[in-house]
Order: sequence, then structure tokens, then C-alpha cells
Amino acid sequence: WWSDVEMGPPDAILGLTEAFNRSKDDRKVNVGVGAYRDDNGEPYVFSCIREAEKRLLAKALNKEYIPIVGTVEFCKLCVELALGEGSPPIKNGNYCAAQALSGTGALRIGAEVIQRLSNGNKEIFFPTPTWGNHARVFTHAGLKINKYRHYDEKTNSFDYDGSLQDIEKIPESSVVLFHACAHNPTGVDPPQKQWESLSKLVKQKNLLSFFDMAYQGFATGDFNNDAFAPRQFVKDGNQIMLAQSFAKNLGLYGERVGCFSIVTSSKEEAESLLSQIKIIIRGMYSSPPIHGQRLVAEVLKDPELRCIWECELGAISSRIIKIRKDLRQKLEALGSKKDWKHITDQIGMFCFTGLTEEQAVRLTKEFEIYLTKNGRISMAGVTSKNVDYIAKCMHEVTK
Ligand code: LMR
Repeated sequence: WWSDVEMGPPDAILGLTEAFNRSKDDRKVNVGVGAYRDDNGEPYVFSCIREAEKRLLAKALNKEYIPIVGTVEFCKLCVELALGEGSPPIKNGNYCAAQALSGTGALRIGAEVIQRLSNGNKEIFFPTPTWGNHARVFTHAGLKINKYRHYDEKTNSFDYDGSLQDIEKIPESSVVLFHACAHNPTGVDPPQKQWESLSKLVKQKNLLSFFDMAYQGFATGDFNNDAFAPRQFVKDGNQIMLAQSFAKNLGLYGERVGCFSIVTSSKEEAESLLSQIKIIIRGMYSSPPIHGQRLVAEVLKDPELRCIWECELGAISSRIIKIRKDLRQKLEALGSKKDWKHITDQIGMFCFTGLTEEQAVRLTKEFEIYLTKNGRISMAGVTSKNVDYIAKCMHEVTK
């Protein structure tokens, strides 16, 4: 049955962790996958999650199936976090939502929804560059992939003119994917004024926007600020689709908790869509896991846990900002002739260093620093102990 199956390549991001784990070299550093580490390089479990776990344990809940689309409470809490409590779609019931297997699962449900249910084009436009897994998620659902400009390599900033020009040319009724905040891999987002213009353009062209929001609260430490773009789009009358993940902002990576939602034009439309989403999910994995969503709900609905969560996110974003400064300073102190200003200009978990593929591969092969070949490093993996080594090696390969 399987004799013709060829060996597949390792995953561009998760394959790095596999290689890192295999390595026996003491120098090894994992700045590949976007997973937060504390300053000792250890995985971090949020205190609010530890507390929520205790509370859940005390409740001794059963393990029955939850509804195909998750609980109404969980979904509402997620959409409120994203769009803001009391936002018109929530007040009027003009949205539908389903628990998803983290952000990737939410994107995958969205891809099926577009493929099976939308009467628009089956074509999605990605920013360039974009997260390494986007193409796979959407092509597996049978969508055609296309691109628009996002990152300007010359200025290491958002290519506003390029993106407007490209989006202007997108055929009406196509889908456009946006990273809500902390763009992965570049760490470069449009400023608010530019989001406002993008929203108007998308509305005017009748495009369907799909927001990938994997970093709400992680980019600036402020949930409202990080949700500016999807909220602005909704305010302007765009019926957005949204993929939320709690992997990074609540550290629930392996629990796989996320939410997929759509803002609709009416309550009836939302109800019909939800009934179809149920059929899609039932055919893929039947119903979602219970533990992670209970943790999220526990934190989101309890003001005390929410407050702890916000403090923790503030501390995390401060550590990342500080380590960005350190890395830049060290490179400059080593006498690097390159301009490293973008290390401190970019936001969120990643730094798009500007290293070429050849330089990135050298860092891995010669120096045991595991980063993606596009030159992205996860700042969350840089610590006060390894920053000197990383700077020295980055300088070495860019001389
Ligand atoms: C990343 O970009 O490193 C993360 O989103 C993890 C993943 O699944 O790729």
C-alpha cells in the first residue's frame, strides 16, 4: 500500500525543535519556534493558569463531550476579548463562533468555510512574507494562494504603498489574510492610521478579511491596542473572519485552545453559518477538547485572574523589549557595520533579522543556533545568558 510514499521534508519551524532536541552540543540555542521562555531559558506557565488549574481541580468536573462548536460561554468570552465587550456584533448577535484547535485549527475551519460555503472567489491573498504554515493550511482546503506586499526589505518596515497597490488589484470577493498584530515573521505592523485606510479599501472592494490573531496582549501588553485592526474593520462595516489562539498569550501551546469566529450581517445568517460549521467540524474531529478551554474561560471571566494575566503579559513583553535592546547593543559593541535598528523597532515575539538563508544555515550548522531559514529568530528564546553568544555568532556570519 505504501511503497510509493516518499520521505517528506521536516517542518520549517517545528522540524527545528526536532533537530535541536537531537543535538548533543552544549552550545545549542533554540530560537526557532515561537514559544516563550523565561530568562533562564525555561518554558513558562502563567500563574493565572496555575491558579485556574487549582480551581478546576476543586470543581471535580466530569469529562463528557462538550458541544461540537464548544460552549457558548467560552466562544462569547473569546469574541468579547477580540472585539471588545458590547461591540455591535455581540450586542446584536451578528456573529457566530466555534472553539478551535488553537490558531491553526481556527484557520483550518475558516479555510473549509470559505471553500464550502462562501459564494466569493476561492482565492486567498497572504502578506509577504507570512507564517510558514499558512500556505499549507489553506491549500489543503483547496484554496488558491496569492500574495500582497507587506514587508519592505529596504526600510525594514511596513510597505504601505506596496500593500495598497496590491490590495487595490485583488479581484472583488476574494479573501485577504491579515495578521492582527505582531506580524509573524517580521514583527512589523501597519500603524493605526494605515490600518484605517486598509479597512476602507477592503470595504470598498468588497473583500473578505480573515484576521489571524495569535498575539493579542503579547504585542504591546494591551489587549485593546493589539485588537485595533479587527475592531476598526468591524467598525467600518467589514464582516471579518477571525482566528484566535491562546498558545502564546496564555502559554497554552500544547493544550490547543483557540476560537474561530465570523461577523455576519444578521442573526439569522449567523445561525445558518454556525449550523454548517458544526457539520464541517463533526466531519474533521467531532468536537473539541475540554481542559484548555475551561482554563481560558476561568481566566477570562474572573477579574482577579484577568488582572494577574495582564501583569504577567506586561512582564513578558518588557523582557522581550529589554532583550531586543541587549541584542542590538551587543552587536553594535562588537563593531558590526550593519544597521540593527530594526531589532528594537520590531514588536512581538519575533525578530526578522535580515540574515540571508546562507547566513541562517551557517548559524545552525556551525554555531548550533536553531533559527528558521528566512532569518527569523524568536526573541522569546534569547536570554541574558545566551545573548552574548547569539550576538557574537550573528556578527561572525554577517561580517
Ligand atoms: C511559530 O511561528 O513559531 C509558532 O507559531 C509555532 C508554529 O506552530 O509554527
